[in-house]
Amino acid sequence: MAPPPPFGANSAAARDIANVLHPYTDLQSHQQVGPVVISRGKGVRVWDETGKEYIESVAGLWCAALGFDNERLVQAAAEQMRKLPFYHAFTAKAHEPMIDLAEMLIARAPVPMSKVFFANSGSEANDSAIKMVWYYNNALGRTQKKKIIGRLKGYHGITIGSASLTGLPANHRSFDVPLPGFLHTMTPHHYHDALPGESEEDFATRCADELEKLILAEGPETVAAMWAEPIMGAGGVILPPKGYFPKIQAVLKKYDVLLVADEVICGFWRTGNYWGSQTLDIVPDIITSAKALSSSYLPISAVMVNDTVFQALATESHTIGTFGHGFTYSGHPVPAAVAIETLKLYDELDIGTHVRDVGPHLQAELRRRFADHPLVGEVRGTGLIAAVELVQNKATHGNFPPAAKVGGRFTKLSEEHGVIARSVANDTICFSPPLIITKDEVDQMLTRMGKALDELTVQLRREQIAVVS
Ligand SMILES: Cc1ncc(COP(=O)(O)O)c(C=O)c1O
Repeated sequence: MAPPPPFGANSAAARDIANVLHPYTDLQSHQQVGPVVISRGKGVRVWDETGKEYIESVAGLWCAALGFDNERLVQAAAEQMRKLPFYHAFTAKAHEPMIDLAEMLIARAPVPMSKVFFANSGSEANDSAIKMVWYYNNALGRTQKKKIIGRLKGYHGITIGSASLTGLPANHRSFDVPLPGFLHTMTPHHYHDALPGESEEDFATRCADELEKLILAEGPETVAAMWAEPIMGAGGVILPPKGYFPKIQAVLKKYDVLLVADEVICGFWRTGNYWGSQTLDIVPDIITSAKALSSSYLPISAVMVNDTVFQALATESHTIGTFGHGFTYSGHPVPAAVAIETLKLYDELDIGTHVRDVGPHLQAELRRRFADHPLVGEVRGTGLIAAVELVQNKATHGNFPPAAKVGGRFTKLSEEHGVIARSVANDTICFSPPLIITKDEVDQMLTRMGKALDELTVQLRREQIAVVS
């Protein structure tokens, strides 16, 4: 296909249009609009091929925690490549990077964990954990106990199992998921879902009651596990109401339902603690993690299981003869070496203290600059994860019609002002910058984004898209 103007025939953009099928993109519009080609990075910034500089407000995809030029991670990969560029973990083979990383994760787990299984992405980690939950219940002879509960607006990935767990329409529509046996309970978002005058505590109780009703309606003997992100990321940085997880966990315990904490975004200090589970008072049976595990310099993810789960898996595998699950790249030595170096750097840099210093600054500045803005409904977050939700009606919390594409327009304007921003459902602008960001860089980022927001307001008024403040 001939490249559309203004791209030259041999430009990177034209070759992208001609050859790449992009994830999470309107594939048809892309043929006209083309890509932003990112060529290099340094610290919290990246540059496109024309030399334009951007602050990365979401660390890529909530993931490049140590920024875009960490030489120690590069060295760790290069050294491991020279020493042992590949080996696998099937049939009891092992290598030091995988063993060391597993030991480091177990030592850092928020609750006692027994073993670590490695995969390559958050989706694969969640799919692996789904299969472990099924295998676990088969091991216990509970062959009916297989249903899995996610939450509306939860995000757990896009492989068939993890997409079934995900509770976002865009990941289901036209893909023939969710699979049968995947259920979704309500979103714990007080701002939108609480009843008039309902306190956070009462709302949390209602969420737990809804969960119990769902389990009872399905039959507790058929429900195996619930998945939860400590803070829902792609669903819009949704923090649960006070007391939510203890109440949810009381219900799960009553019906012998496992809890899987999806720490793919929240893990590794994002929320101000090592794990989101610590920030949100969660005691998981299984933890999935990825992204900041290697600062995303190479793909790697991990599933940690507690000893109760592990013992059942072990018994069943002995009966069958093998635990017949694993990827060619499970525990790959090069990403494992990078992950080890990443975890060492978090310790050496005392990144937790840094997040606890810069995080409150980000949260305070977001509120100071934007809470009263006519387009802003709710500012929410903790640590270095946050969101600013744009609304049409501040009083009723009513969002803009999706066709107005307000979030998309904001991210476009932000890019013009030098920030790569991300908007998700309900025109929610998400913040998850590299954990190394400084207060000064936070201020620069928010100043640029503030200009974009003001420009958007002027545009909407000019187009007579009503804003009720
Ligand atoms: C909470 C959560 N779980 C799982 C995933 C899926 O990870 P991946 O894109 O690596 O498959 C993501 C990705 O954003 C995520 O945010």
